[in-house]
Order: sequence, then structure tokens, then C-alpha cells
Amino acid sequence: MKTPIIDFISEYAEKSCVRLHMPGHKGVGNIEKSDITEISGADSLYEADGIIKESEANAGTLFGADTFYSAEGSSLSIRAMLYLAGKYAAECHRTPLILAGRNAHKTFVSAVSLIGIETEWLTPKENASYLSCEITAEDVLRKIEELKRTPTAVYITSPDYLGNTADIEGISRLCRERGILLLVDNAHGAYLKFLNKSRHPIDLGADVCCDSAHKTLPALTGAAYLHISRSAPKFFKENARDALALFGSTSPSYLILSSLDGVNGYIADGYQEKLSAFARRVERLKESLSDIGYTLYGSEPLKITLSAKEYGYLGAEIAAILESGGIVPEFADPDFVVLMLTPENSECDLEKLISVMRSIPKRTPITKKAPKFSLPKRVMTPREAILLSSELLPVSECVGRTLGAVTVGCPPAVPILVSGELIDEDTVRVFEYYGIQKLKVIKTENTR
Ligand SMILES: Cc1ncc(COP(=O)(O)O)c(C=O)c1O
Repeated sequence: MKTPIIDFISEYAEKSCVRLHMPGHKGVGNIEKSDITEISGADSLYEADGIIKESEANAGTLFGADTFYSAEGSSLSIRAMLYLAGKYAAECHRTPLILAGRNAHKTFVSAVSLIGIETEWLTPKENASYLSCEITAEDVLRKIEELKRTPTAVYITSPDYLGNTADIEGISRLCRERGILLLVDNAHGAYLKFLNKSRHPIDLGADVCCDSAHKTLPALTGAAYLHISRSAPKFFKENARDALALFGSTSPSYLILSSLDGVNGYIADGYQEKLSAFARRVERLKESLSDIGYTLYGSEPLKITLSAKEYGYLGAEIAAILESGGIVPEFADPDFVVLMLTPENSECDLEKLISVMRSIPKRTPITKKAPKFSLPKRVMTPREAILLSSELLPVSECVGRTLGAVTVGCPPAVPILVSGELIDEDTVRVFEYYGIQKLKVIKTENTR
């Protein structure tokens, strides 16, 4: 497959032109010469009609969608897709309403706050962690029927941070029957398209989704896609670029764009076979971990989510042992350790992992679970909350107060509580359990 962005940039870098254009480094010194800007011939991401458009079309052919690049992660794609859903509702003379799985990434919360879209939450009956939201199509249907008006869109995060995948097929069927859009945060699942049988949300019936290429494909951090299903209303494809431009930088990184271009070549050049063999290898690795005594969660093929406590440790303890063995996990919290693998990991990496995991003696399981809490009371909308002045207080002093900006680090960047919600004793216990010590709360004069 052609790589027009890479070809253009390497030809330009070889010519050693006098660079009287941005960026200021001029390609001189210990800097990446391929870092260019919108010079003649380089196209322009948000008005693409040259090499970027050609490269995006190549990606679209591979993903079977109308595909647009983001050089600012899935975060940008999420803002764009929510704006598109909001604008689409307005086009249909309706007030936008999004029904979202509660484990949404914080970008979802900031985007609906900034755009001013009303949201309702889908909450699971029982959850191992606030990072998951295990809901069936029937749960979604029940919630839709409870709502006073039909939502514009259902918004699902799948896969989630712990590697759980939702029944996108079932949920998309029921959405389609009711004229509701299905938006999917597939930040962790770009590669799902290329499994022997695609498990990519667009193939399972989603209208729009985001994929972070950088999370599971060999792309630079920040490289992501906005995919629009070819069966989605035409409005989405026609307005996608403007939606991305509304939130994106006017200086998208050409290094990131060329890494997306390179991924097209990588995928076309035997990735599916490579992935298939690697997925089988990871399956065997998971079986070996189970044989050693680890309990694994999630159904995503390339993610390994270990239940630390069931092996007798806190997540941070297992993570520290791994790190002292030269292995750096993606994420750990008190309950889980998450490991992300791709075919770029070598056999040697996998053997090292199994050898360190085997060296950890199994202990009596820790039975203390994450504290439970129910959906908190909403005092005001997230938009109202982020626009009011707030103060930073120790969590223990926050009971009875309303959350301002969400307090959550990355990873996992999934808010426990959303801006505008009331902090009660149960939620304080949850914050403390996850080691969150301070919260931004609305100043009391604003809530009186
Ligand atoms: C579930 C989920 N959605 C969206 C994002 C944002 O993706 P990006 O980092 O590509 O902006 C993340 C990032 O970690 C994520 O975990």
C-alpha cells in the first residue's frame, strides 16, 4: 500500500531546502527532520485534498469505513463525535441526549460539558471495578424505555481499560431499530478489525467510533482515527472534518500523521497473519498464567488483566515486582494489573513475563473488595459545574459538596464521580480506596 505522507516528507527532507517556514528548529541539529508543516504539497489535515486525503482513504479501505485522522489522540475524535451527534440532533430538530456507559473516559465528560449535551448514565448491576460497565443489550433497552425522551445516541466504551468488550452487535441492533445512533469509544481496540473475524465496532454495527492507533498499533503517541460507518447518516461523513477542526490544533504533527500513514503500509503488509499468530500466542500465555494460579479478567485478546488480590497481593505490589524484573505494566490499581501486548513484543518479552510471574509465590487471597457506591445525586449539569469557581480540598472534607472538575489521573482517566455530582460518604470511601486524596469542589457560595 502507498504511503504518500511518508514519501512526500522523506523526499522533502532529502532535498535539504532552505526552510523559511515553521517549525523553528528548521530540521537542524538533534531533531527530527521529518517534522514539517503545511508547506506546498504537504496538504492540510482539516482541508485535506492531497496526500493526507489519499492516506486517510487508504486507512478507510483497511478499516472498511470513512476514516479521518486525529493527531491528538482519541480524545480529539471523542470531542468530534459528540459534537457531530449534538449537531445531528439539532439538524433533526431535537435536543441532544446521550445515554452513556458510566465508565466513560474523562474526555467524554469534558466534551459533553463544553458542548453542553445532556447525558444519562447506563450503570451496571454489579461491577468488579468502576472501570467496567458490564451491560447487556437488554439493560440498554430497559434504560431507553425509562427515559422521558429517546436519546440521540448510546455511547459505549468497549474495550474498557480492563479488557472487557461489550455486546456491540446486540446494542447496535436495538439502537438501529429505534433510530438511535451508536457511538463507541474503541480507543483500546483499533487492532480488533484485523483479527481473523473482525471484532471492530464499525463491523459490529456502530455508527461512529474512535480508535487510538497509538495504543495497539505501531504508531506514535497521539495517532488516532475517527471512523464513520458507511451506513451512518451522510451528515457524519460530510461534517467530520469540520468537527475535528473545531477542537483540534491548527498545527497537527506531521510526525504523527506520517506514523498513521506508515501504519497503513504495516497493516497491508501481512499484519493480519502476524496478529493471528500473536493472538494465539497470547492465548497460550494466558493459559500458562491461569495454570500458575492467576485469575484473569476481560475478553480482549491482547490485554492481560490479572486479579492481584485473588493471588494474594495488591495490584501495586505485583506491578512493583514486575518492574524490578524489568517489565513495565500499563496500569495497576488495588485490584488489577493491566498488561498490554502487541505483535511488536518479542517471544523473549513473553518468556520474561511468564518467568517473573512464576517467581511470585501465591499467597492467601485478599478478600477485601473495592467499596460499592450507587449512582450519585446530580446537583447540577457538568457544564454548570466546570464553569463555577472551585477549591481543592482533602477528600475527607468533601462530604456534602459538589464535584467541580473531575479529579482523575491518566491512566486510567475514568472519573469515579462526574462534575456536578454530590460527594457522599460512600464516594469518599471509593476515592480513598483508589488513593485519590484531593478533590476540586464547587465553592459553597455557588451552591447555596
Ligand atoms: C477508554 C479510553 N478512551 C479514550 C482515551 C483517550 O485516548 P487518547 O489518549 O488517544 O487521546 C483513552 C486513553 O487512555 C482511553 O483509555
